[in-house]
Amino acid sequence: MTAVTQPSKVGHEDGQQLTFATRGLVAPVATELLRAHAFAAVAALLVSSLFGTLVAIKLVQPEFLGGQAWSTWGSLRASHTQGILFGWLGNAFLAFLYFAIPRLAGRAVLSRRLGWLIFALWNVAMLLPGWALMAANLPQPWLSIKPLEWSEFPLAINVVTELCLLLTAVQFIVPLARKPNEDGFYVSSWYVIGSLVFTLLAFPMGSVVPQLVPGAIGAAFSGLWIHDAVGLFVTPMALAIAYYVFPVRTGRPIYSHFLSMIGFWLLFFSYPLNGTHHYVYTSIPMDTQRAAIAASGVMGFDVVLVVLNLLMSLRGHGARVWRDVPLRFVWTGIVLYLVVSLQGSLQASMALQRHVHFTDWVIGHSHLAMVGFASFVSLGGIAHVWDRTADCRCNHRLMNLAYWLILSGLLVMVIDLTAAGLVQGELWRGSSPWMESVRASQPYWWVRIASAVPIILGFASFLAGMLTRENTASTAAANPSLPSGALPQPAHG
Ligand code: HEM
Repeated sequence: MTAVTQPSKVGHEDGQQLTFATRGLVAPVATELLRAHAFAAVAALLVSSLFGTLVAIKLVQPEFLGGQAWSTWGSLRASHTQGILFGWLGNAFLAFLYFAIPRLAGRAVLSRRLGWLIFALWNVAMLLPGWALMAANLPQPWLSIKPLEWSEFPLAINVVTELCLLLTAVQFIVPLARKPNEDGFYVSSWYVIGSLVFTLLAFPMGSVVPQLVPGAIGAAFSGLWIHDAVGLFVTPMALAIAYYVFPVRTGRPIYSHFLSMIGFWLLFFSYPLNGTHHYVYTSIPMDTQRAAIAASGVMGFDVVLVVLNLLMSLRGHGARVWRDVPLRFVWTGIVLYLVVSLQGSLQASMALQRHVHFTDWVIGHSHLAMVGFASFVSLGGIAHVWDRTADCRCNHRLMNLAYWLILSGLLVMVIDLTAAGLVQGELWRGSSPWMESVRASQPYWWVRIASAVPIILGFASFLAGMLTRENTASTAAANPSLPSGALPQPAHG
């Protein structure tokens, strides 16, 4: 556990102090729901990462696991990506919301019973049957895998997902809307509401509409969802966590309320237009492609503003970022958010697309975004919640080990896939046969498999950190600001 901070003025430098970060009363928090979602999240992260590793192995050993429906490359890949989106990130965000909304709204979430219904629907009626149906790959249209990226779960499961999204919006938006606390609407609340509303609307557009309008038009809708899932669900939730964790853990306000608001509105205006940049050089009208490329540039500008605002809020706190494990997780996620977004804005241009389209460069980019940005911030968010929830065991040593394992594995994976992408792109533009590029990719694909080892060990170490407590002596050593032998008390925020 980290030392308790005594916030002086937490909120925005140009705004008022926020009580959620100080020692005011907290509305009742549904701790069991928070714990249930957090454990489901990390369990799904481990399972989904194992799926990813099997997919990676099948690229170098196609006959590995045989050729039954459940072990085909396509089925395992879809289980990997849907598990990451709904099982890991979805549950992680829900866990954080059960902690943060009672503080941000100054009142409890709508209903504990509704909370358990959402938990059961999300995990027992969506994730587990979704994985099972992927493995079975039945021929019935409602039960079969959909050939839509980020929405491969069958239509029957999509209905449950939409219901979950609706109930989640009701559970968390109602308390925020009923009583914005005396601080007004903090920027994290804006992002949470934006994310829940937009995802509710964007999900059916990406999951059902492409089934009804096949061909290039369907692909355009699917492209919107590929980007909206990342841009309107994952990104705003991760930013809500960062805007929450930074001021609470440093006791220092966010640099600028103005930049917070500009960042929020630019994200929601420009992200929905980005989707078609996944289909540059296709039969989708050129003007749509150009609009998506322009919107991608605007997004890059927006990210610079948001990251500047967040990092300026930490000025003078470098040593604390280094010492404080939850803060370091979130800080790393935000730095990688800048890197991956600038990469994304550049790679949306036609000039770079010519070299990297459909290559492993893009897969490297996806992992930098989803592991580097979204997962680091979410792991930091969970670590913060654990740290501040009285009956949760929290072992910062194991979480620190997790940090280094995941970071080192991720860097190897991303550098490896980026290099593989450049080699593939070069060979595809020449006159060599396709198989030449497959042969040239083999060493890179082996390195990707190796990089899975530290990443998965890191996730396991994080889980162990959620289940154990440090002993008093090591805690004091890790927190020099504490009187020797003292255990830090969970702070308010
Ligand atoms: C543990 C190690 C992991 C390995 C070995 C791995 C491997 C893979 C492989 C082989 C693919 C398919 C690539 C292709 O289509 O050619 C993939 C896709 C993907 N993985 Fe992973 N993965 C891992 C962990 C993760 C984690 C932790 C996340 C997110 C938190 C993640 C997010 C994704 C995403 C978003 C895609 C889709 C990429 C795209 O289509 O652009 N992976 N992964």
